[in-house]
Amino acid sequence: MFVDRVLSGMRPTGALHLGHYHGVLKNWLKLQQEFECFFFVADWHALTTHFDTPDIIEQNTWDMVIDWLAAGVDPSQATLFIQSRVPQHAELHLLLSMITPLGWLERVPTYKDQQEKLSDKDLSTYGFLGYPLLQSADILIYRANRVPVGEDQVPHIEFTREIARRFNHVYGREPGFEQKAEAAIKKLGSKRAKLYREFRTRFLEQGDAGALEAARALLEKAQNLALGDRERLFGFLEGGGKVILTEPQTLLTAASKMPGLDGQKMSKSYNNTVSLRDSDDSVADKIRTMPTDPARVRRTDPGDPAKCPVWQLHQVYSDDQRREWVQQGCRSAGIGCLECKRPVIDSVLAELKPIRERAQRYQEDPTFVKSIIADGCEKARKLAEETMRDVREVMGLNYR
Ligand code: TRP
Ligand code: SF4
Repeated sequence: MFVDRVLSGMRPTGALHLGHYHGVLKNWLKLQQEFECFFFVADWHALTTHFDTPDIIEQNTWDMVIDWLAAGVDPSQATLFIQSRVPQHAELHLLLSMITPLGWLERVPTYKDQQEKLSDKDLSTYGFLGYPLLQSADILIYRANRVPVGEDQVPHIEFTREIARRFNHVYGREPGFEQKAEAAIKKLGSKRAKLYREFRTRFLEQGDAGALEAARALLEKAQNLALGDRERLFGFLEGGGKVILTEPQTLLTAASKMPGLDGQKMSKSYNNTVSLRDSDDSVADKIRTMPTDPARVRRTDPGDPAKCPVWQLHQVYSDDQRREWVQQGCRSAGIGCLECKRPVIDSVLAELKPIRERAQRYQEDPTFVKSIIADGCEKARKLAEETMRDVREVMGLNYR
């Protein structure tokens, strides 16, 4: 069956926090129920900026995997793996680099942005310039068609689509393509073959987008087709060659509404996080000492929730009734700030409790965590190798 395949990666940058949970992880939990999902630790990507701190990569990687599992990412539903344990990613990255114009990489907005933002590091390296291309290899090697990412990563997915198109354009015209496509059409069976030809003609001659859609749907349902034949027929539909690498679609992850403890976006670099494995005491302390509306100097001073980061937390954690209680109580100085924070503290503690308990169990059983990853890596390598066989073949590297 042809199912949507989702792939996403995260750099191992240390303990995950509530911002990750509300932004990325909860989305993954939903996706893993709907699609075939691949989630991986982008450790090579971490090295593009943190090449000088190799000592933290491994620990961060295991911590992150434990955080994923603790948050509910389910290895029986999703494949979890580590990028560097699937060396095919590096091979595809290298091969794609042959057809990647330098200008395309230099134009990716994150390139200059990050160089400026991380100005204490020398990021004028070959590896850092290639960051988006490595990401393309990550995606294309699994023929993933849906990639959940935040806004900042959208240009990387666009770039990946351009690379896939360029690759297919350069290498998709295998010798005898037309004959092979004709042979593949016959394998559809006479009824579907006839439909396919009609749809194709309507699309190619009249630009009928509905016909293109219908033909694609027909191919997706054609379960007896070998992968190679399917790709040929997808390519043939649009008058091109074989589709060797699939263009991915962006699945935009809504920005997390989770504010940091100071009201800015929650982020390690702002030092305003609650991490998934913080102890109850530390969570309670962090929220208790959060700044509030500066106008409320004394308990009797009225305040304005719009000027208070605690109010933003109520928007994540509280129902209408409680929000009303905050609005009223704050504006009339009917409640104190500590009183106002109490239900938020309780909600965060309740949310984190099961996560921390699961994390604890995984932490106590590293062999189990490693076996989950070993299984995932093996599965990933198998799929990656299938793509690499096709890629090597069309690039003239299929030595026999
Ligand atoms: N660049 C991504 C980030 O910083 C991480 C990443 C690496 C990724 N490879 C990927 C995300 C492939 C999606 C798909 O968030
Ligand atoms: Fe903020 Fe609540 Fe204090 Fe108002 S009462 S300032 S919303 S913490």
